[in-house]
Amino acid sequence: MSNILRHLAIIMDGNGRWANERGLRRTKGHEAGAEVVREITKYCVNHTEIETLTLYAFSTENWKRPKVEVDFLMHLLEKYLSKELDTYMQNGIRFDVIGDISPFSSKLKDTIQKTKELTKDNHKLTQLLALNYGSRDEIVRAVKRCIDNGVEITQENISKSLDTPYSDIDLLIRTSGEQRLSNFLLWQMSYAEMFFTDTYWPDFTTTELGDIIDKFKQRDRKFGGI
Ligand code: FPP
Repeated sequence: MSNILRHLAIIMDGNGRWANERGLRRTKGHEAGAEVVREITKYCVNHTEIETLTLYAFSTENWKRPKVEVDFLMHLLEKYLSKELDTYMQNGIRFDVIGDISPFSSKLKDTIQKTKELTKDNHKLTQLLALNYGSRDEIVRAVKRCIDNGVEITQENISKSLDTPYSDIDLLIRTSGEQRLSNFLLWQMSYAEMFFTDTYWPDFTTTELGDIIDKFKQRDRKFGGI
C-alpha cells in the first residue's frame, strides 16, 4: 500500500549559491526562487492528495542577513502576494502563515492579512508560509498555553496548542545539499519522511518533485511500529 501525502513541507535553500554561481547578486536568486514557489504551488493544487504545502520562506535567523537582503526579501514577499492573488483565487488556494509577523512593516502585515482573509474559503490547497518562524519557540508557546489553560501536558494537547495546528508533516524536502532541519516544524516532523536534494531551489522543478513523491510513496513508514 502506498503512503498518502497530505502535508508536504519544503526548506527552500540555495538561492544565494545559485546566484553566485551565475555571477549574479543574491537577490536575483530570491527572485528566481519566487517563480519556483509559484510553479510548485500550482503542481500541489493539481496533486489532489496534498492538502497543505508549507514553505520555509523566512526564519528567525534570517534577520542576521545584511539589511538590504532582508529588505529585499520583505519587498519580494509583498510583491509576490499582491501579484499572486489571482492565482490563489483561480486555483482554490488558501493562504496562511505560521510564525511571528509582528516585526514586519505595516504594509506587508496588511497584505498578509488581506490575502489570508480573501482566500480563507478556498479549499483545494493551503499554502502555508513560515515567516519569522522558529520551531522551538512555537513548542514553548504551546506548552505555556496548556499551562495557562489548565490543560494537562500531553502530546495531543501540545499538538492542539501549537500556533497553527495543521496536520503532521508527511514529507519534508530540503534543497541545495544541506541536511539540517534548521528549527523548522520539529514537533510536526516527528514521523516525516525526509528527502535532501543537491538541486538549488531556483533549479527545483515539478518533475523532480514528482520523482521525490514517487519515492516517498514507496517508503515503508512504520510510525514506530514494525
Ligand atoms: C534560502 O536561500 C532561501 C531563503 C532564506 C528565502 C526563501 C525565499 C524565496 C524562495 C523567495 C521568496 C519567497 C516567496 C514565498 C515569494 P539562501 O539565501 O539561504 O541560499 P544560500 O544558502 O545559497 O545562501
